[in-house]
Amino acid sequence: MDDARAGVIVRDILESLREVIRRNGVTYPEYRAAIRFLAAAAGNGELPLLCDVLLESVVDESLARVSGATDSNVEGPFFAAGAPELGTQGADGGPVPLPVRPDEPGDRLVFSGAVRSTGGAALPGAVLDVWQADAAGLYSRFAPGLPEWNLRGRVTTDAEGGFSIRTVVPHAYDIPGEPHTARVLGLLGLEPHRPAHIHVRLEAGGHAPLTTQVYFAGDPWLERDVVGAARPSLVTKLEPDEGSGFTCRFDFTLAPAS
Ligand code: BEZ
Ligand code: FE
Repeated sequence: MDDARAGVIVRDILESLREVIRRNGVTYPEYRAAIRFLAAAAGNGELPLLCDVLLESVVDESLARVSGATDSNVEGPFFAAGAPELGTQGADGGPVPLPVRPDEPGDRLVFSGAVRSTGGAALPGAVLDVWQADAAGLYSRFAPGLPEWNLRGRVTTDAEGGFSIRTVVPHAYDIPGEPHTARVLGLLGLEPHRPAHIHVRLEAGGHAPLTTQVYFAGDPWLERDVVGAARPSLVTKLEPDEGSGFTCRFDFTLAPAS
């Protein structure tokens, strides 16, 4: 961000905050308590979580939509760059397995679909960087005790632009009970739940990258997502599989780079 734009935004934020102080007659003790609260939240590493819970969906809503392209959705605080490259198919020629623990809990899921351009052309060689919570709602690299890249990986589409990923159904998900984030949600009377979802960041040559999420029909938290991010256009259906798990399908459409 250049200095001119940063100056405009900082001035606007300050104007809004000064107005809040005036309107509410904020006292000295309240002002000092607010600063201590923010410093403690930052000291506890909670600012990315707190900001993403309260603000990120507004940033995403403000993005220009490209007609015909899949809707973007919030990235959230749990992306990690550098996930393993998993290729196009598993060693058995079947779906690409995301890294899991030998005893990974949860229902088995095969998540498949295609990546196309808004003009309809298949996009072979597109990369889907996928990350998700486990069946307990926990993300590797952020919750202790999980292998580094559990349920994370970069999958490449095949010659027809298709992909197929073997994973587990993520759990409907609670914002981690970090004390400052929990306190703010409590003040707002919000429950800390998100609907279950799979995150995907897509990249394909000549196309604008897309960060989005896929949700599942029937999830009771779709209507009450604490982050306010779930969109009907990003909901797919979990279909029971002949074996013991589920399948779901979602096709992504990318806009040509402008
Ligand atoms: C998530 O999708 O995991 C998420 C998004 C925003 C805030 C917190 C979590
Ligand atoms: Fe998430």
